Amino acid sequence: MDYNNQVSAEQKEQEWLGTPIEELRRMPQCGQSLPHLRATDHHKVLIRTDLLKEGQVPHPYPSKYRDSWDDMTVKMPCSEKNLFPVENEDLVQSRWELICSALEGECKSSLDIKDAILSYNIAHAKRWDFTALNYLCTEGMENDEVQHLFNVTLPKMMKLVLNTPKICTQPIPLLKSRMNQSLTMSQEQIACLLANAFFCTFPRRNSRRSEYANYPEINFYRLFEGSSLRKIEKLKTLLCYFRRVTESMPTGLVTFTRQSLSVFPKWESSKKQLTSLHITCKGTIEDEGYGMLQVDFANRLVGGGLTGMGLVQEEIRFLINPELIISRLFTEALDSDECLIITGTEQYSEYSGYAESFKWKANHKDEIPRDGWQRRCTEIVAMDALRYRNFMEQFQPEKMSRELNKAYCSFMRPSANPENLSAVATGNWGCGAFGGDTRLKALLQLMAASEAGRDVAYFTFGDEELMRDVHSLYKYLKDKCVTVGKGLLHVLYFWTDLFQISESLSWKKDPPPPPPQKKIKDL
Ligand code: APR
Repeated sequence: MDYNNQVSAEQKEQEWLGTPIEELRRMPQCGQSLPHLRATDHHKVLIRTDLLKEGQVPHPYPSKYRDSWDDMTVKMPCSEKNLFPVENEDLVQSRWELICSALEGECKSSLDIKDAILSYNIAHAKRWDFTALNYLCTEGMENDEVQHLFNVTLPKMMKLVLNTPKICTQPIPLLKSRMNQSLTMSQEQIACLLANAFFCTFPRRNSRRSEYANYPEINFYRLFEGSSLRKIEKLKTLLCYFRRVTESMPTGLVTFTRQSLSVFPKWESSKKQLTSLHITCKGTIEDEGYGMLQVDFANRLVGGGLTGMGLVQEEIRFLINPELIISRLFTEALDSDECLIITGTEQYSEYSGYAESFKWKANHKDEIPRDGWQRRCTEIVAMDALRYRNFMEQFQPEKMSRELNKAYCSFMRPSANPENLSAVATGNWGCGAFGGDTRLKALLQLMAASEAGRDVAYFTFGDEELMRDVHSLYKYLKDKCVTVGKGLLHVLYFWTDLFQISESLSWKKDPPPPPPQKKIKDL
């Protein structure tokens, strides 16, 4: 390919290439005004929309608790149907009563927390381990922080749980596979539900064999186990959130939308031009991508290894914006043509490091403006890439189509004018834990965003060469005015050739070492 691939001196110094980020659209500036918030069949709203007032904690709707215990809604801990058999008698007892008596008491140590949790999770008493929680409370925090936790924050968290029937009064719909459904609730309701998750009160959520096998874990018991420092830093980050919301309850709303598409573009014949690209090796999606559609490099079970040992892009985002975690309570595993859009979560913590070196750093005061529904203008989309154990697999056309459709479903907004759509803030989606090729994935995301009419801010997470490579390919395609379809075909033929070469090497038996991350200049 004949294009200038000599990296100029200034480019070497360049931290970004392409369109200046100032020229990309961000919310709230680019958004259109929101219609009045109201509940519909496809949008459940758990608060009184007529009383919604800036700076005031929204009123739960309905005012009186309405129970439900079925396969369409979350089974709540305070449900009267949350029963368990009394030993050696043919009686059943209300588990909620057990929870209340446990949490009306005092918790003065991590042992008390353990005893409280196990008193209504008897079946797990032998299995659940609280080593990490014990370590945090005895050695992992300063003494004054421990005192504040047990004398102030924890009692307020326990009160939030006891008030569940007054705060979460409406059945919470499960966002099941294939549904196009939205759910809006207050940050207070989320805080209440997360306090329940901390105290592991959600019934039927503690075994992989239950009816919720296709849902992420929500109860926090795995966060308390083991001796990894990852757990300590995760718990510190979550306790920072609980301290903040119990000191001063946030007054906003958050909307969770499961978006499932059944019709996709005919990629090969798309006439869409490539939209604008800003690409940089500095910064992160959550910091420099404010006001843009921020991509969560998700697991199909949203939040991924949050309660376990996972600690890369998705888990970190769920930790610093913990309101994201409550999506695990009601979001069934994502299919290949679905995504989860979360609008309104707040960032409560700063962090340093990544994976093994992740550390909670400080409180974060979120200054992002709120929209007409009192939601922070932070829109995050959870989109799960395919995991590749064999590097070459991803170059199969059907695999590329799956990733294109997943990204398109995540970026497109059926009823919006592209002029009102912010740029997409993304990066090496599927190219870390999931083993994807950065160049290929960058191009596929560029195509999907172009088809959806959205510009792209791409963060290479420190990889300067990747920044230059992707920009070179983009510039080449843009200068040739290729369309999404033509550009894609070009890539498809190139990668497929590469794949066929590998095929001819009968790689199936002894796969060759994966080629170095294919350089764009070889295209
Ligand atoms: N901003 C921009 N880029 C980032 C950021 C960030 N804040 N954090 C990480 N990256 C880049 C890194 O280069 C990383 O290698 O994104 C790459 C991919 O990140 P991963 O989290 O490994 O994403 P993926 O490969 O899609 O794996 C998803 O990991 O977090 C779990 O639950 C998730 O199971 C899922 C899997």
